[in-house]
Amino acid sequence: MKRVLSRVVLASGMLLGMAAVSPCFAADAAAGPVKPDFAKGQQLFEQGDAARGIVPCVSCHGPGGNSTIPANPNLAGQAHEYIYKQLNDFRQKEGASGAARKGPDGAPSVMSAMVISLTDADMRNVAGYISQQKLTAPATATNEKLAEAGQKIWRAGLPERNVPACAGCHSPDGAGIPSQYPRLGGQFPSYIEDQLKLFRAGHRANGPMMLQIADRMSDSNIKAVSDYAAGLR
Ligand code: HEC
Ligand code: HEC
Repeated sequence: MKRVLSRVVLASGMLLGMAAVSPCFAADAAAGPVKPDFAKGQQLFEQGDAARGIVPCVSCHGPGGNSTIPANPNLAGQAHEYIYKQLNDFRQKEGASGAARKGPDGAPSVMSAMVISLTDADMRNVAGYISQQKLTAPATATNEKLAEAGQKIWRAGLPERNVPACAGCHSPDGAGIPSQYPRLGGQFPSYIEDQLKLFRAGHRANGPMMLQIADRMSDSNIKAVSDYAAGLR
């Protein structure tokens, strides 16, 4: 667990500065390794906790994190470290002006209200549960005309714009590389597109590498690669 935590600190520390993230993770480490409780995670995912005002995740993200609504991303099978990091990033840290991961126009993400009452253990448990689920109804590419352009960006990047190949970090088949690089294959194309634009606008400021990469991409680059990535298996 220590190794996992230090990788999480590295990933977020690059943007926020180590000083800003270290204290909360240091407190975590002092409490000792915590093993996710999948059963508790499942209960929270499926039933929420009315007493604490926690909305069931399933109501938006679908059974086992298989969503049917493109605005609500598929979560099934995503690495637990990535999920845990995102849940933390939707929260406003003490002294910060907002959460590191915001939504459209820099307004708080829908998720920020969902994570308010989650404890650290809740986040670990639900992330553990999600990571164990199978993506049963993956989204697909929708625009054949964009496939060639998208594939080029995925495999070779855009050298003229200094954009690296997505495959290098998200893996050639789009499955991602646990624990830092999320799966994109099977995710909704419109969600991928929205996230790239949120990175580019700086509203999603929890992934410094992605911020730089998206900043160098045009709308049509983003559209093509998002569609292609969704269709990867
Ligand atoms: C009201 C609908 C709603 C509910 C309920 C909800 N979510 Fe979400 N979730 C969303 C939306 C919309 C997004 C995309 C947010 C954005 O882009 O800012 C999202 C994004 C996420 C992400 C980021 C996924 C990624 O690929 O980066 C995670 C993780 C997540 N939700 C977990 C949860 C968990 C765990 C719960 C239950 C405690 C939950 N959500 C409840 C709507 C919801
Ligand atoms: C140098 C490594 C690297 C490269 C290259 C890279 N990414 Fe990423 N990407 C990341 C990391 C790290 C994250 C997670 C950021 C975070 O913690 O939120 C990420 C997250 C994302 C997300 C958010 C996924 C979600 O579920 O919300 C999208 C979309 C994305 N990348 C698309 C791309 C595309 C398209 C390319 C190619 C143009 C690309 N990435 C290239 C490292 C990379």
